[in-house]
Amino acid sequence: MPNTKLSLLESFNKKLNLVQPSAIRAFDNEVSDIPDILKLTLGEPDFDVPEHIKKAAIASIQNNDSHYAASNGTIALRKAASHFLRDRYDLEYNPNNEIIVTVGASEGIYTVLTSLLNEGDKVLLPTPIFPLYIPVTLVGGGEPVFIDTSANDFVLSPDMLKAAIAEHGDKIKAIVLNFPSNPTGVTYSEEDIKALADVLSETNIVVISDEIYSELTYSRKHVSMAKYLPEQTLLLNGVSKSHAMTGYRIGLLAGPAELINKLSLIHQFTITTATNSAMAAAAEALGTEAGRQDSLDMKVEYEARRNFVYQEMTELGFKIPKPDGAFYIFAKIPTFDNKLADDFAFARDLAYKNKLAVIPGSAFGPGGEGYIRISYAASMDNLIEAMKRLSSYIKEINHG
Ligand SMILES: Cc1ncc(COP(=O)(O)O)c(C=O)c1O
Repeated sequence: MPNTKLSLLESFNKKLNLVQPSAIRAFDNEVSDIPDILKLTLGEPDFDVPEHIKKAAIASIQNNDSHYAASNGTIALRKAASHFLRDRYDLEYNPNNEIIVTVGASEGIYTVLTSLLNEGDKVLLPTPIFPLYIPVTLVGGGEPVFIDTSANDFVLSPDMLKAAIAEHGDKIKAIVLNFPSNPTGVTYSEEDIKALADVLSETNIVVISDEIYSELTYSRKHVSMAKYLPEQTLLLNGVSKSHAMTGYRIGLLAGPAELINKLSLIHQFTITTATNSAMAAAAEALGTEAGRQDSLDMKVEYEARRNFVYQEMTELGFKIPKPDGAFYIFAKIPTFDNKLADDFAFARDLAYKNKLAVIPGSAFGPGGEGYIRISYAASMDNLIEAMKRLSSYIKEINHG
């Protein structure tokens, strides 16, 4: 094995020194070795990809669909995506110049932030938040500004937004909104969206609206930020969560043509284009009646699981902001005379003693301290077993 020179390492991009490895992955790795561990850690749907979608991928390979596609993605998928966004969320995006197919929503996040940021620009991040936004902002030369939303049941209020704008002013380049939210499962109502759009329309702040969980909204209709602020919004979506296609790596990035044109430079020079067979599968998922039905069917299952876990944990004394989307429950740990109120200590103890793995809330930034995140993208059998283990653990520490 070659040993490199230390001087080479020191010559690397210094911004990388600001970046920490993912606390979620690190915790998941740590507890994965525990024998018989039951993991509700990762945001990974447990469903298989529906057969007709797999067939579309196979047909693409068999038809020798093996050449470079257009950089912004196949026109078939962009048309399917455009139709899907109109049909489901009342949004108008021209498939020719207002949509980029990305390698998962993750690439969309990278493309947007690295395209937008100049050195020292600030990015507003309402927390707790999906952590990927933090390292990408830092590597892009930006500065994350956290807005702790825990006091408002994890919803960013117009007043919180106005206060951040008053404090950071013109330095703010962008704000990230993610709803339904990872990690809280909380989503925004149409009124919430309208009120935030009113404040933002008075500014030059770009809204990065990560709506990757939009198809998993339970008791109301998902309303996109792009409906009320299309000229300033860059919309992220994809098939990873809606169709259990995380491994296919297909995301969508939609926005005004002039902005998409700029973003497509970074996209083109980074990944050239997404994979053809995965794009064929995503076109089937988004562009057909059967594909549109798949996400509705999965949603019914998720909702039943959400109801079960929510009820069980509430009975055990956890305080939970009512999760109305995605497949997460963000639960405040009961304090029990302040024993194990620290979320990392609690999650580690639970994993080692009762063999249930969940993610400590502080991995998601300010406001997550004292919480744990449970992913209920798991079979009902596993969730029933998980709640048994959690219940025994809580009884033990309560009486111990
Ligand atoms: C809020 C949020 N955005 C983006 C992603 C990344 O999605 P993809 O797998 O399509 O890259 C995730 C994955 O967990 C997520 O939770």
